[in-house]
Amino acid sequence: MCGIVGYIGPKGAFDILIQGLKRLEYRGYDSAGVAMVDADGKINVHKSRGKVANLERVARAGDTSGSLGIAHTRWATHGEPNDINAHPHVSQSGEIALVHNGTIENYAVLKQALEKHGYTFKSETDTEVLVQLIDYVKHHNQCTLQEAVREALLQVDGAYAIAVVEKGDPDTLIVARKSSPLVIGVGEGETFIASDATPIIGYTDRVIYLKDNEMAIIKRGGDLSIRNVKSSTPTQIDIQQLKLSLAQLEKGGYDTFMLKEIFEQPSTLRDCLRGRITDDCSRVVLAGVEMHKDVFLKAKRITLVACGTSWHAALIGKRLIQDFCRIPVEVEYASEFRYGNPVLDSDDVVIAISQSGETADTLAAIELAKEKGAFVYGVCNVVGASIPRATDSGTYIHVGPEIGVASTKAFTGQVTVLTLLALAIGQLRGVTDKDTVRSVASALREIPDVIEETLKCDPEVKNISRIFTYAHNFLYLGRGYNYPTALEGALKLKEISYIHAEGYPAAEMKHGPIALIDQEMPSVIIAPSDYLYDKIISNVQQVKSRGGAVVAIVSKGNTAMNDIADYCIEIPAVPACLTPLVASIPLQLMAYYIAVNKGKDVDQPRNLAKSVTVE
Ligand code: M6R
Repeated sequence: MCGIVGYIGPKGAFDILIQGLKRLEYRGYDSAGVAMVDADGKINVHKSRGKVANLERVARAGDTSGSLGIAHTRWATHGEPNDINAHPHVSQSGEIALVHNGTIENYAVLKQALEKHGYTFKSETDTEVLVQLIDYVKHHNQCTLQEAVREALLQVDGAYAIAVVEKGDPDTLIVARKSSPLVIGVGEGETFIASDATPIIGYTDRVIYLKDNEMAIIKRGGDLSIRNVKSSTPTQIDIQQLKLSLAQLEKGGYDTFMLKEIFEQPSTLRDCLRGRITDDCSRVVLAGVEMHKDVFLKAKRITLVACGTSWHAALIGKRLIQDFCRIPVEVEYASEFRYGNPVLDSDDVVIAISQSGETADTLAAIELAKEKGAFVYGVCNVVGASIPRATDSGTYIHVGPEIGVASTKAFTGQVTVLTLLALAIGQLRGVTDKDTVRSVASALREIPDVIEETLKCDPEVKNISRIFTYAHNFLYLGRGYNYPTALEGALKLKEISYIHAEGYPAAEMKHGPIALIDQEMPSVIIAPSDYLYDKIISNVQQVKSRGGAVVAIVSKGNTAMNDIADYCIEIPAVPACLTPLVASIPLQLMAYYIAVNKGKDVDQPRNLAKSVTVE
């Protein structure tokens, strides 16, 4: 859940590290730090609470020389965010500096043992234990840093991606990973390392995705060797080409990444759909399904696992798969599934959904499902991330890097891929006839244009958001396909505006939450013209008759709600199964503008990070 970055080469490391940390800041931003080894072998360490900009200011006032360096941006797990707990951590001897993303689960036991050997600790972090352990092993065994790192890692339980440097050696950078991501960028006579490829873009497009239990020894000049931590045997170096551009990582004229990502949904969904529907719309072609037809033909049940927004997409996926494939479908929070002793066998397909492809709970759910013999299919965004590599097959959503912590374009990409998946499996099993595939696929192909049209509601949503900026609570209500849309709308508002919001199935409201409704409690009701429209009208009336204000999302041309709701936001009419894709647009905008009106940092909301690589 933190971001790490490193550099070794002919240039000054500091600017490269700071630039890299800024790109990784979405992974955590409560403190940051940097360590450079200068030409004389001295380690210059700077740390600061808060964002990378603070660190940059603090560090520039000191010595930032050195062309070897490591850096870190933190999302606190062990110990509060402050300068002491910030990384890099330096060993007691002052000889070794280390940055770490992950969690050392047995840190308390290791710490006790090190204390017996005279080590004292300044911070509350698990990471300091690791750097002291490496220091201890190095001195005790009289070995090289490389050997000490390997020996120490053999004693560690948990997840880590680490980068380590040593006083007196400006020519060596050591990195290792287990269950936390780490990418190496191979330049001309220079090497970069980072938690993901974003800090590397612009320097090189040649990357190595370090695998679990691998460590790399990177030398000045570009020499690089990789070995397995457990066996110590050298492993083959697989250099891949990176297909990300700098433009994809910039705000493109928008005030924030979130707004850019909301507005780029027409183009991201075009990318997501490209090549996946035949020209005549009679077939959906997903390579991940085509290659494993036998698995999808014999599947007796499908279980969707995910967290957060991806879990909301999974709830929509459940309805889609049930409707188009007539297979029993379950949806589980990955964090519950992994400890829920699930009953699975080789007739089960588990679909893991994750934007980042790094979410620790989802990864653990995948491992469990595989152990039990299920076939695991991934729906991910980040190419080459841990989840797509851990799954048996899958489909990328291809919506480009999502930087804003609140997921927007990834959600619509996930729902789009789940729609394609449901159609592909349905047609394969002969459950969905050609006419149905054709009509849904052709409507889906139009969705990018439809969303472009929907985005024209922006000024209207902006106005409505002013009226509700200072509400303390919100209720989001929807039915059928749009109950998950309501959950997602509420999550967006909570995450970035810090307003309490609850999503509820509209009809379930009368069984309890209706007691909350008064003039202070606005409701956002997702009410497109589908088979549940008449029912939801009566749910809206129940809210109105208790004095609650209502913002309704309705299909264009349907005026029945005008006299009931206080504000109606029109969206284009689409088939019921596609309404979440369209209805989520005004909900994203409304959360965005309310947060902006309140002066909140929408791209980096408090306490959150983009990629949750801890339990
Ligand atoms: O990368 P993932 O899709 O696995 O992440 C899952 C959640 O952490 C994520 O969706 C989170 O809820 C977002 N902040 C929602 O906007």
